[in-house]
Amino acid sequence: MCDLAQELKKDETKLGAVLSHQWEKGGTANAVEDYEEGGYTSYRSGINLFKEPYREKFMPLHEAALEACFNYVAQTPWQNQDNNPPEGLLTHAWVSIYGRDHFVPEHIHTDSHISFVFYGASDEETGHIRFRNPAAQSFRMSHTLAAEMFCEVYAFPPKVGHFIVFPSFMSHYTDQHKGDQDRIIYSGNFVFRRTYLGDGFLNATKLSDS
Ligand SMILES: [Fe+2]
Repeated sequence: MCDLAQELKKDETKLGAVLSHQWEKGGTANAVEDYEEGGYTSYRSGINLFKEPYREKFMPLHEAALEACFNYVAQTPWQNQDNNPPEGLLTHAWVSIYGRDHFVPEHIHTDSHISFVFYGASDEETGHIRFRNPAAQSFRMSHTLAAEMFCEVYAFPPKVGHFIVFPSFMSHYTDQHKGDQDRIIYSGNFVFRRTYLGDGFLNATKLSDS
């Protein structure tokens, strides 16, 4: 996937967005050279990885992402609450490339239930992803030792070949990437079918089987 991501980054006809400090300004790059300042993501490029010419090339990753989301659902109490496990689909997927010092500011993934990130390349030592405890406001004013039992932020190292799956409402960000080689990720969103009528990459069979 790393070669594919680098190809997308070079595409001057479908400019993506610049990460790091440029990310919160919105919009897309004016030229591919802009990525040098903050990194590249296809998130705002208009590229749909579920449609050709990308679909086939990314299919192994799409399928692995679905599998990871199915596993996540299967390990939650959801199925104890509902005898009819929900169908789901991937609605968005994108790639991002971080050079030295690049990062992504804090954000959530809107319009989805479950999100994921897959690490295609990383130095595994820097650029940790950090999730903020969604209950942080309930203990923020507890200035006692007891407050130490709560964890404000959960950090995970970017391990090559690993998926991290998380609820889309979990606010998260990354540390700066400090490696000499690019850190390359594939990320996306998963939505339960009953709440979503649009198109996506659907494989409901596997979910029913899980
Ligand atoms: Fe994210």
